[in-house]
Amino acid sequence: MCGIVGIIGNEPVAPLLVDALKRLEYRGYDSAGVATLEEGQIARRRAEGKLKNLASRLNEAPLYGMIGIGHTRWATHGKPTEQNAHPHATDKVAVVHNGIIENFKALRDELRADGAVFQSETDSEVVAHLVTRELKRVNDPVVAVRNILPKLHGAFALGFLFAGENDLLIGARKGAPLAVGYGDDGMYLGSDAFALAPFTDRVAYLNEGDWTVIRRNGAEFYDAGNVLVERRIITTQVGSGLVDKGNHRHFMAKEIHEQPEVIGRTIAHYIDMATGDVRLPTDIPFNFKDIRRICLSACGTASLAGLTARYWFERLAKLPVEVDVASEFRYRELPLDKDTLTLFVSQSGETADTLASLRYAKEHGATTLSVVNVATSTMARESDVVMPTLAGPEIGVASTKAFTCQLTVLAALAIFAGVQRGTLSQERARELAQQLIASPGQVADALLLESKIEQVAHKLAKARDVLYLGRGASFPLALEGALKLKELSYIHAEGYAAGELKHGPIALVDEQMPVIVIAPRDHWFEKTVSNMQEVAARGGQIIVIGPKGTAVNAALTPIASIDMPDVVTEFAAIAYSVPVQLLAYYTASIMGKDVDQPRNLAKSVTVE
Ligand code: M6R
Repeated sequence: MCGIVGIIGNEPVAPLLVDALKRLEYRGYDSAGVATLEEGQIARRRAEGKLKNLASRLNEAPLYGMIGIGHTRWATHGKPTEQNAHPHATDKVAVVHNGIIENFKALRDELRADGAVFQSETDSEVVAHLVTRELKRVNDPVVAVRNILPKLHGAFALGFLFAGENDLLIGARKGAPLAVGYGDDGMYLGSDAFALAPFTDRVAYLNEGDWTVIRRNGAEFYDAGNVLVERRIITTQVGSGLVDKGNHRHFMAKEIHEQPEVIGRTIAHYIDMATGDVRLPTDIPFNFKDIRRICLSACGTASLAGLTARYWFERLAKLPVEVDVASEFRYRELPLDKDTLTLFVSQSGETADTLASLRYAKEHGATTLSVVNVATSTMARESDVVMPTLAGPEIGVASTKAFTCQLTVLAALAIFAGVQRGTLSQERARELAQQLIASPGQVADALLLESKIEQVAHKLAKARDVLYLGRGASFPLALEGALKLKELSYIHAEGYAAGELKHGPIALVDEQMPVIVIAPRDHWFEKTVSNMQEVAARGGQIIVIGPKGTAVNAALTPIASIDMPDVVTEFAAIAYSVPVQLLAYYTASIMGKDVDQPRNLAKSVTVE
């Protein structure tokens, strides 16, 4: 992962590099660094931890160079120390890297044998030494980079700065995104258009295998065969303002509260409010009547949105759905055919495993449909059909509003598929669309339970382990609840299908174990209540999330009840996401954890 940036400007670039890095922190925040040319010599400032540490370092010891590169890191090889922070440099070249150099050990041994002295434990440092060695041979930075790129195995986006070269940056891309920005006051290199937005909205994306030579007066692009090529400059719609927290303490809180609005906006994009019919904003090059199965692939929370949608596609459109986490899908060698629709779900549209799965599907002749939040992302650009979620920028590492918008889009698609396949009558499809239209209101009602949920979170904050249970479309939400609690509070949590508990995990249940039961009034409600009895009989500390009276009617005394609006809807998972999110949010806040940037994580996982 990691974010990279480069600037050739007309003023000291270090503060501008830090500004751009702020916008790339979603790619990692273990450490950060910049390098500029000070009187022709490479000078670096690096710091362990969040970007604010680098900003303080630069305050104490400013840099004045008008050309430079910067990096924000998510550690892959080597601990997140200052020593391992990028840029990595020799006296000739500094390099920033996003990705993994898979053959770094062999290269490092070879370079050491040639006398190179390594200062870090990273895979990336080999790139600086390779270029330095090649420079001794060819004495030309452009030729040196061109010659070493084929030696690098793995995935990378690279940015290079050279001693004595005040008008030259080089970038290279293989398996990780990279864009060149054309500004009035300079030229730019960055992991994405968002990083470059404060400086310019005119960008050209490097294609896979491309490398670029950037000077003050423009950029040249070369393809993987070193042929000079044209890359189109486009005007992006990415806003230059940094999103702020509004009146909230954390981005996550703000994003949870934005859900009624963004889900509503997403619904309006997919449902014709006048007729109540689902309509897809783009033509799709297939008819669901001809589709035999869906293979859905995604990571983390996005995969759980997919798992939820499986229930909807199967129930409403009678269409079998296989769901794989993308890190498995990409290597499964799954046979695909023209009757299979491959479906990918991603907030960022840059997740390496999901992107690789999409490319696998394309190579094997399948139609690719992606549900993505970032419209300019690589997945959006490479998919046959793109269905945007209109969640707006999501900054908190924990996916919240992106998840519920993914559920919304997938629900609309399941209704659409049901109509095309003739498994839903027009009338039933409109009823279902109305249920979906009602969900922003139900989400708003669920948000009114916030102070109650905060009280319940005080109980969870004392727990060592927590179980989440759900059946049917609430089972993926149980998994999501456990994932949210783990990633934010570092409390061990597991999600189970409620009916599966008795096949083993029930042995864990005792008086210390909070068991959160997600029980909307749906097809599985009675069964879930029975499973709740089994937990109660073993002394489990039940927290019910369900319609008012669920526990009382079952003669249970839970430690807490979160009373949800009592509505019958196929799409209860959307509103029931809210208590699940708020429980994790408040538990982590009460425990004093960094809710927006939990340890060891990054918003966008661009390495496999
Ligand atoms: O950008 P994506 O939706 O592809 O990201 C997938 C996962 O990395 C992401 O959902 C992750 O699981 C979140 N941190 C969960 O809150």
